[in-house]
Amino acid sequence: MKKYIIGNWKMNLDYSESKALIQDIAKAKDNFGPDCEIVVCPSMPFLSVFHELLKNNDWIQLGAQNMFAKVAGAYTGETSPSQLTSIGVKYVLVGHSERRQDFGEDNKLILAKVKAALSANIIPVFCCGENQQVRKSNVFKEFIMKQIEDVIFELTAQEAEKIIIAYEPIWAIGTGLTATAAQAQEIHALIRLRLVKQFGEKTGASIPILYGGSVKPENAAELFAEKDINGALIGGASLEAAGFSEISNAQL
Ligand code: PGA
Repeated sequence: MKKYIIGNWKMNLDYSESKALIQDIAKAKDNFGPDCEIVVCPSMPFLSVFHELLKNNDWIQLGAQNMFAKVAGAYTGETSPSQLTSIGVKYVLVGHSERRQDFGEDNKLILAKVKAALSANIIPVFCCGENQQVRKSNVFKEFIMKQIEDVIFELTAQEAEKIIIAYEPIWAIGTGLTATAAQAQEIHALIRLRLVKQFGEKTGASIPILYGGSVKPENAAELFAEKDINGALIGGASLEAAGFSEISNAQL
């Protein structure tokens, strides 16, 4: 399976800063690892301009950080999946912990978004993960599995084949605290096992499972060495082209 390297710029960088970063990334093609799918998720208003800008750089894909679950209509301020498709967006983050925490997104809405993305031919990157309190409570595995069951297990095998899962322990996001490679692999292996049980060996084994939470050039190699870690969803360290490309190359 190819390695997925997805940069989530969140609500950072204004237009000229974002443009400079995307140009830096485009210029650094040779620094990116082979067999990697490179995806950047800038802020929504810049996506269509960046699609034009990347015309000769089809090795970089665009992702949106969010979208709404409806096709069209009176939903002031929202963006539909088909609107994203129409400007060349290939991926969308769904259920990021910041959306869950700060915007009250629940598994029901997240499932609707995943399905809407799939029907518009956008690949949803479904995020799951526990906060520190849940991690300490010792039912954290059940908690993560419930997020998977409520959303991913509602899909058919054909739908599930088209998604990406990102495990992002909330206590490791933007905190500098990374889950150890062993801690991450433990959860990834569990997710993989459940996917295979639910959808069968072929589909279950084909769904990429990315790790997110303070991934940096210094810890990426150790994480990527784990059997069930198929790439990374990167926040802070994706805001700089050199670090971002270094992560894509990381190997032990
Ligand atoms: P971080 O963010 O790499 O800054 O921890 C990851 C994410 O929220 O996707």
